[in-house]
Amino acid sequence: MRPLIVIGNWKMNGNLASNEDWIKTVARGMESGMPSGRKFAVCPPFPYLTQCASLIKEHSLAFLSLGAQDASADIAGAYTGEVAASSLKEMGCSYVIVGHSERRQLHHEVDELVAAKALQVLDSGMTPIICVGETADERNSGRAVEVVRGQVAKQLTVLQDRLADCLIAYEPVWAIGTGKVATAQVAQDMHRAIRLQLAEFDEDVASHVGILYGGSVKPDNAVELFAMPDIDGGLVGGASLDPQDFLAICKA
Ligand code: G3H
Repeated sequence: MRPLIVIGNWKMNGNLASNEDWIKTVARGMESGMPSGRKFAVCPPFPYLTQCASLIKEHSLAFLSLGAQDASADIAGAYTGEVAASSLKEMGCSYVIVGHSERRQLHHEVDELVAAKALQVLDSGMTPIICVGETADERNSGRAVEVVRGQVAKQLTVLQDRLADCLIAYEPVWAIGTGKVATAQVAQDMHRAIRLQLAEFDEDVASHVGILYGGSVKPDNAVELFAMPDIDGGLVGGASLDPQDFLAICKA
């Protein structure tokens, strides 16, 4: 049985004061207990990882793990501005997002680089969250499944059965930050297609990999999305900035 996983991606938001408020509010909200069989994490910007790790410890927030939004594909060296996966592990991270569509679009990241980053994250003892998803044009031209299958295939080529230790986040680009959430059935259909593709490679990998949905997840649509058999949770952007909304999605 795969656990339900909710991960908040703050993107380039937050500051020392608002982060502290967020953790305190979530700590109070989680105090009364959380549904069993679920996992939760938050991915702040790099500079706030230490602050958030300390606050999570201070408030004994056992339910909440820490994640990062990216990692380098290289181990160490002359890569100005990059952050090594091993450094993220030292800062207390358990998860690292790789291949987010904003990285693919704004920083021209390609599948091969995304896979190399995922390998570094795995080698450092953390779980990569590998993002895939089609654009509006690709969906409108009937190529959504073909595009996503292509992205997953590249990961399988490099990661092989190590994909069993990763999470996949299906994030249709047209649904990210737009308020246009994929219907639960549209999301389920793509998650099913991904799981069937994984099963073509290895049944065991397919049954182990958590596939999260991302794209305008909110408290009022999370219940329906998470009820779908192949949707194992959510990667939540905008709504995760409000601690009450994040809590509501975690409990959905
Ligand atoms: O990583 C999160 C996704 O990009 C979704 O963002 O919930 O603001 O649409 P969003």
